[in-house]
Parts: sequence; structure tokens; C-alpha cells
Amino acid sequence: MECNQPKPLIILIGPMGAGKTTIGKLLAQQLGFTFYDSDQEIERVSGASISWIFEKEGEVGFRQRETRVLDKLTQLDHVVLATGGGAVTIAENHHFLKRGIIIYLRAEVDIQYERTCRDRNRPLLQIDNPKQKLTELFCKRDPIYQQLADITIVTGHSSPKKMVHDILLQLQDANITV
Ligand code: S3P
Repeated sequence: MECNQPKPLIILIGPMGAGKTTIGKLLAQQLGFTFYDSDQEIERVSGASISWIFEKEGEVGFRQRETRVLDKLTQLDHVVLATGGGAVTIAENHHFLKRGIIIYLRAEVDIQYERTCRDRNRPLLQIDNPKQKLTELFCKRDPIYQQLADITIVTGHSSPKKMVHDILLQLQDANITV
């Protein structure tokens, strides 16, 4: 990614439970940008829940819908976009994500688990041992998140407000203009 180039699109990547939606909304508010969540957009255009899509079309069908939504949303300006945790697993999506400044919200598996264990709308975790699944996904995906990210922020121990403050500082330090 080119530095010093104004790029009014911020993309949040990272695992389930990293706080992409909460932090994304606050960051958008602070910057005067519009907030989008790719999962919410998939549900809106499909008229169906993520769980329903996984059940009827499997993960493959969900990923196809996700790719279409990511292509559309990453063409917008003055947007903060929270992506689903698995968006980075599809190589075609990398091209779309790179249209913006990519921020990796990194969270320990224990934190991810704490924040997701009561949620029924995350189909990949509706199994006997969701913590093990989160660990497996983290091992596979963490290198991809790191490779794509312009900056990385560790979440979980501070308030969303502090996280947003840290993001803005890190962007400034990296000489990235939003
Ligand atoms: C997924 C993460 C979810 C959602 C879907 C699959 C994943 O999004 O896209 O359940 O593969 O990690 P969040 O990261 O917003 O929970």
C-alpha cells in the first residue's frame, strides 16, 4: 500500500470476537465515515441470516455471497468496513480488501471465546468444542491477517474508545493518511 496517499476506506480484519463491529462503529463515528459490516450486508441483500445461509448453501455458498458483498463495499469511500473472520481465506478477496487501509484486530483465543460463546449466529462455533475450533482457525488465519495488515492492534484488554485512539495513533505513526 502507498503511504501518504489519502485513502478514505478502512477495512477491519480479524477473528470472530475481536471487536470489529464495536470498534468499527466507534471509529467510523470519530472519522465521520459510514460504518458497514459485511455479515450484516450479506444478511440484508440475501434476506436471510448467516445461519440460514450456512445451513442451506454450506460455507461455500456463504463465501460466494461474501465475496460479492466485499467487492461492492470496498468500492465505497469514507467507509469503515468490518469483515467476517473468514474473509481472508479466499484469495480473490485480498484484492478487494487491499482497496483500503487494512487494520488487523488481534485477540487472544480466550477473549474470542468469551465474546462468542453465547452467540447462536456463528455457525462455525455451534459444535461441541468451539474453543478448539477458534484455536484451529486462529492458527490457520493469523499469518494471513498479519500478511495483509497495514497495522495491527491487540484488542481485549482495553475499552473500545482506547482501541480507536490507538488505531488513530498508529495510523499517524505509520504515516497513513485517512
Ligand atoms: C466467520 C466469521 C463470522 C461470519 C461467519 C464466518 C468465520 O463473522 O462471517 O460466521 O469464518 O470466521 P465475524 O468475524 O464478524 O463473527
